This record gives sequence, structure tokens and C-alpha cells, in this order.
Amino acid sequence: MNTFLNRTLSTERCFLRKPVAEDAENFFTLRSDPAVNQYIDRKPVTNLDEAREFISKTLAGADESKWAYWVIQRKVDKAFMGTLCLWNFSDDRKTAEIGFELLPRFQGVGYASESLIRVMELGFIDLGLSSLMGYVQSANTPSINLMKTHHFSLKEDFIENSEVDGKPIKNSIYLITKETWKSNRE
Ligand SMILES: CC(C)(COP(=O)(O)OP(=O)(O)OC[C@H]1O[C@@H](n2cnc3c(N)ncnc32)[C@H](O)[C@@H]1OP(=O)(O)O)[C@@H](O)C(=O)NCCC(=O)NCCS
Repeated sequence: MNTFLNRTLSTERCFLRKPVAEDAENFFTLRSDPAVNQYIDRKPVTNLDEAREFISKTLAGADESKWAYWVIQRKVDKAFMGTLCLWNFSDDRKTAEIGFELLPRFQGVGYASESLIRVMELGFIDLGLSSLMGYVQSANTPSINLMKTHHFSLKEDFIENSEVDGKPIKNSIYLITKETWKSNRE
């Protein structure tokens, strides 16, 4: 087990902690929210059992070092605000993909930014990544803004058929290298 991938992280206003079984209702709310899902090619969670299943799968994968998956929790009131993950590690563990989502009422005040800064630090320093990627739908302006703010740049655009309904979707891959991260470190 990679202890870095299971560690609680702290920022000024947030804890990034491992999901627990008691988060099921919050995961259901997050992953069934149409606004959150608007640019994510996945079937919405439809019931609490699916949310529980998702948590179990997530914890099992984290224990096997397949990914790191954190709940973003507000320090002041312990509110569940969203999630952030590192996944799709390359075989040599030098690159990984980042994923983030916040409940709408917690968007627009910098919580994703604050959390991303901490996870980039963990990725580039503790995990020894040489680059980090973000794979987004090209129309997902808030996500692209988040990555651009933190010095990710566009690597490529491509069309892929939706796994949900088979329709073509324009996607973009954004990338930040360790060198870029270091030279812009916040
Ligand atoms: C992507 C997502 C997490 C970005 O969240 P966000 O809250 O917009 O991102 P940030 O935390 O960087 O907040 C930025 C906003 O907070 C403001 N802000 C206020 N205080 C701030 C602070 N201390 N630090 C940074 N930004 C701050 C910024 O000005 C910015 O406002 P703007 O959107 O009006 O320009 C969110 O849009 C989301 O959950 N989307 C749905 C899920 C999704 O599509 N995920 C990606 C799948 S690939």
C-alpha cells in the first residue's frame, strides 16, 4: 500500500480525506447532480446502493495503489464539498490523470483550486510524477479554467464516442509537467 495515496491532506480551508461508508448519501447527491454530470461521460448514480458500491470500489483501488481518491471536506463545518482524485497512473508511475468535482453550492470560491494545489504538490514531490494530465470535455469551461489557472496547457483535442449514448464528444487533454509546476509554484 502506498501510504502517500491514503494520507489525509490539509489546506487552509479543506481536508482531503479518504471516503468512508457514511459518505454514501453525499456521493449519491454529487454523482446524481445533473449540473455536476453535465460534462462527465458517465451514467448518473441512481440510488444509495450504487453510491455504496462506488465507495467500496474506490477504497479497494486506493488500497491497491491504483488511484488516490479524496473527499474534499470543509474544515469549518466538516461539509462534504466534492472529490478529487489521481488515477490512470502510467505503468512507470511517472504520469497520472487528475479528476475533480464539487457540489454546485461549493463552486466558485476557490476550494477546487486550493485542493488542486495541494494534490499537485503531493504528486510532483511525494509521488515523483513527471507530469499530470486532465482529460475534459472541450465545452467544460470551469474545468479548463481551473487547469489553466494552475498552468496546465492544452496538449490535444480529439473526438470520442460517448460511453453512455455513443454520440461523438469533443474532448481535450491538458497537461502540466513537473518543470512547469516548479517554475510557477504557488
Ligand atoms: C471543475 C470544478 C471543480 C471547478 O470548480 P470551481 O469552484 O470553479 O474552481 P475553483 O476552486 O478554482 O474556483 C474558481 C472561482 O472561485 C473564485 N475564487 C474565490 N476565492 C478564491 C480563492 N481563494 N482561490 C481561488 N479562486 C477563488 C475565482 O475567482 C473563480 O471564480 P469564477 O469562476 O467566477 O472565475 C467545478 O466546476 C465542478 O465541479 N464542475 C463539475 C464537475 C466536472 O465537470 N468535473 C471535471 C470533470 S473532467
